[in-house]
Amino acid sequence: MIDELAMQQTDRAESAQNTTRAADRCAMVIFGASGDLTKRKLLPSLYNLAKKKLLPKEFALLGCAIDDISQEEFRNRAKADLVEFGGAKENCPFCDWLVARLYYLSGDLQKPEVYQRMKDMLADVDRQHGTNGNYFYYLAITPSLIGEIIQQLGAAGLADENDGHWRRVVIEKPFGHDLDSARALNVQIGKVLSERQIYRIDHYLGKETVQNILVFRFSNGIFEPIWNRRYIDHVQITVAETLGVEQRGGYYETAGALRDMVPNHILQLVTLTAMEPPISFHADAVRDEQSKILHAIQPLAPEDVLTRAVRGQYGEGNVDGAAAVPAYRFEPHVAPDSNTDTFVALKLAIDNWRWADVPFYIRTGKRLAQRVTEVAIQFRRAPFVLFRDTPVEKLTPNVMVLHIQPDEGISLRFGAKVPGIQVDIGAVNMDFQYRDYFGNEPSTGYERLLYDCMTGDATLFQRADMVEAGWSVVQPVLDVWKALPPRNFPNYRSGAWGPKEADELMARDHRAWRIG
Ligand code: BG6
Repeated sequence: MIDELAMQQTDRAESAQNTTRAADRCAMVIFGASGDLTKRKLLPSLYNLAKKKLLPKEFALLGCAIDDISQEEFRNRAKADLVEFGGAKENCPFCDWLVARLYYLSGDLQKPEVYQRMKDMLADVDRQHGTNGNYFYYLAITPSLIGEIIQQLGAAGLADENDGHWRRVVIEKPFGHDLDSARALNVQIGKVLSERQIYRIDHYLGKETVQNILVFRFSNGIFEPIWNRRYIDHVQITVAETLGVEQRGGYYETAGALRDMVPNHILQLVTLTAMEPPISFHADAVRDEQSKILHAIQPLAPEDVLTRAVRGQYGEGNVDGAAAVPAYRFEPHVAPDSNTDTFVALKLAIDNWRWADVPFYIRTGKRLAQRVTEVAIQFRRAPFVLFRDTPVEKLTPNVMVLHIQPDEGISLRFGAKVPGIQVDIGAVNMDFQYRDYFGNEPSTGYERLLYDCMTGDATLFQRADMVEAGWSVVQPVLDVWKALPPRNFPNYRSGAWGPKEADELMARDHRAWRIG
């Protein structure tokens, strides 16, 4: 029975895919094309889109970077990357199709002459591939160059839509490094681009399970009536990684866990979980509701930061029983006395009618015990009175967990009678696993985002006001932490669940983290 249902579901998913039209004819320009993002995510995503016939026949890609390599070399490397990271076979027609549409421009992206050459190359690409002057620029470069590159695009006439073609710019995070710099960047790029040309990407929104939060909440009539302060006790969001900072110490030293994960990925999870139903799936209808939640999150007063925000940094230790890993301070490009946070936990309050007095606890960290991203909604405990004269000591509250990764699915915990002559209750789980119903499609999580950018759907991208509202939530914490003397780091071992203060944050409210 379940198999039959699963097959029907899969057929449905496939036919939905088949009826989706290919994206608009266009050329994609990647700034920073020799980097990791291009080979691990962007090229494999384009390949997956091509396989599903979602890329237009009139498509081409121009990679730009400082590396002095030939076009042929760029194509050869791309082909090898598609095999290594995209799961392509050596002889694969879709790969060849894609690789034949790749072009390369080497040069210093701060020099105006590069943009003149880019303009000529794109005009050539238009003639050869019928890309029609529609361009989208993907900025996979160091954040400090974003403003300047957009200015250069503008000066070269490459951002101008007056000729009837569309021009869009995809900007990777981090967008600014605090509220002021994010505002300044919005102003700077707003001089060249209109807001509808700007696609601020957050790769969390490319994850099916994240997109499913909206569908799950608003397509099932049984959950929405109980999704509020009357029935929900609190929400816990965990984004735990087992990896350390790896080779990204240089960037991470300027960011830390709070900046790296909270204003973007984690607040996306918060808004999707907490928002009101939008009136449509139109980009601004969805984003307006998300934005309202961001504005309703109460900024922490300086004295609250001390009790509601916890920071940590990993020391050495063992993750998952593997060999010992070094402390953060011994990672490459990290200062030996670094005060950078690799863990953060916060207690947030959303001050609106639906969520007043329902705390949202969030935590994220590197080198934690387990890789897991989930949103857990804990419901209020049922009244105990009926069980007073039974062996039952307390009732376990219902918990609904939206499992984002690595196990993608949804589970609901409820109490059930343990078979026997006495009244005894066991907590059991009802589990839905994505892979059982929909199979496992190879995906990088960037396919939908790239496709949406090519079709002009900005629903899954952050608007200027959302980015700024996200920074406003974390700014008071950044300010207090900066003003305090350096912490006595490290304060948690690799392979643990963060510093003990994170447990104390919950314990003060007579609660505990679900995992850990
Ligand atoms: C990135 C952060 O945006 O997200 C990384 O910069 C983090 O530090 C990564 O590891 C997590 O993404 P995912 O998809 O692996 O959960």
